[in-house]
Amino acid sequence: MKIVVVGTGYVGLVTGTCLAEVGIDVVCVDVDTKKIENLKQGILPIYEPGLDKLVHRNYDKGRLKFSTNLTESIKGADVAFIAVGTPPGEDGSADLQYVLTVARQIGENMNDYGVIITKSTVPVGTAAKVKNAIQNALDARGVNIEYDVASNPEFLKEGAAVNDFMKPDRIVVGIESERARLVLEKLYHPFVLNGHPVIFMDIASAEMTKYAANAMLATKISFMNDIANLCEVMGADVNLVRKGIGSDPRIGNKFIYPGIGYGGSCFPKDVKALVRTARENGYEMRILQSVEDVNEDQKHVLFNKVKKKFGNLSGKKFAMWGLSFKPNTDDMREAPSLVIIENLLAEGATVCAYDPVAKEEAKHMIGDKIEYAVDEYDALRDADALLVVTEWSEFKAPDFSEVKARLKNNLIFDGRNIFDRAEMERQGIEYHSIGIKSL
Ligand code: UDX
Repeated sequence: MKIVVVGTGYVGLVTGTCLAEVGIDVVCVDVDTKKIENLKQGILPIYEPGLDKLVHRNYDKGRLKFSTNLTESIKGADVAFIAVGTPPGEDGSADLQYVLTVARQIGENMNDYGVIITKSTVPVGTAAKVKNAIQNALDARGVNIEYDVASNPEFLKEGAAVNDFMKPDRIVVGIESERARLVLEKLYHPFVLNGHPVIFMDIASAEMTKYAANAMLATKISFMNDIANLCEVMGADVNLVRKGIGSDPRIGNKFIYPGIGYGGSCFPKDVKALVRTARENGYEMRILQSVEDVNEDQKHVLFNKVKKKFGNLSGKKFAMWGLSFKPNTDDMREAPSLVIIENLLAEGATVCAYDPVAKEEAKHMIGDKIEYAVDEYDALRDADALLVVTEWSEFKAPDFSEVKARLKNNLIFDGRNIFDRAEMERQGIEYHSIGIKSL
């Protein structure tokens, strides 16, 4: 089998690399010359645990190639994945221009049967547009080449993407022909030896599955954040409530951790897109609209606690642990840290932050408006309080005597509930967390 993956962003690079890892020949194509040159030298555009090792190994073995030339790469390919960006356009809807340009170029250059798969998260109905673009290009050439389009949404979690791809819970594929089904069954066979299913369905349902999955997960988070806020008002402890409800298998104990709101490249964008698509088609997603509203408010919760404690924040200095939207990634997209920093700076406070990997990404977005510490303890120097914003493992068991020695006040605002309240009490630390009365 020969596979072409167009787009070497997060999804494309993980997909191409993991397919090569099971022995398939893969060409990853991108228009960005610099990115391709870097990849050839083993320099990756993203931080993702374990990915660099796999890229190096498969590139050295010659199974994974990088190219800027789609025209040549597409010839003889059995499968082409379209994994280019779908940034929100001016009106907030997914901008499909890159997806459709690639589709047209594939139509202009393919020379034999192939399955063209959309891997980017795209609105329901996109595969039909992809088909249209390919067909127009083939018609312009005056050739009659058979092909199929398919939709194969990804469910990768940043920070765990390699494992998610190699050992998926399920693979969802939308197809419209038996021939395409056979190709994809063969392609994914090595990844479902664990017995997990490849679920075949029609294309529109596969496209919708991606949105429904992310919308459901985002709903769980906003629901728990709502419950957490109510717990604070009512004098309950959301950590206990979470354990209490999570042991019911119908609810499950995953994805019910309250915090400072979800961020990242998927949930915020996909929730908004689904609300919008529904509205455009005359349907109001009332629950999802609230999911988004709760999330926007939740990003302010930690700041509000700080403000309530100090009143006037002018001249105050805050240590921040974590900047990325979640641990094990350098991704800053829609990170709650951005909102918290903006709020603090607007009140005249200063921030000194430490993140194990997201510093460079953060600098692109925040620049020199905050200070960047060399480690977590360095961030604490003369700070009025510590704010825990991302639950990196290395923050979970710090040397509290060192923390107290560096902070001006024994005061922690924990947006991720990573510390033990009893321990905080023993340490004599004033502890504010999410969903429980402050110590
Ligand atoms: C998500 C989906 O999990 C993945 O299947 C999809 O393909 C892309 O979107 P990702 O954005 O990488 O993946 O992160 P994820 O681990 O799902 O976390 C998303 C956000 O939710 C983070 O901001 C995280 O802090 C937050 N979250 C998650 C909570 O606040 N509470 C939880 O219980 C779980």
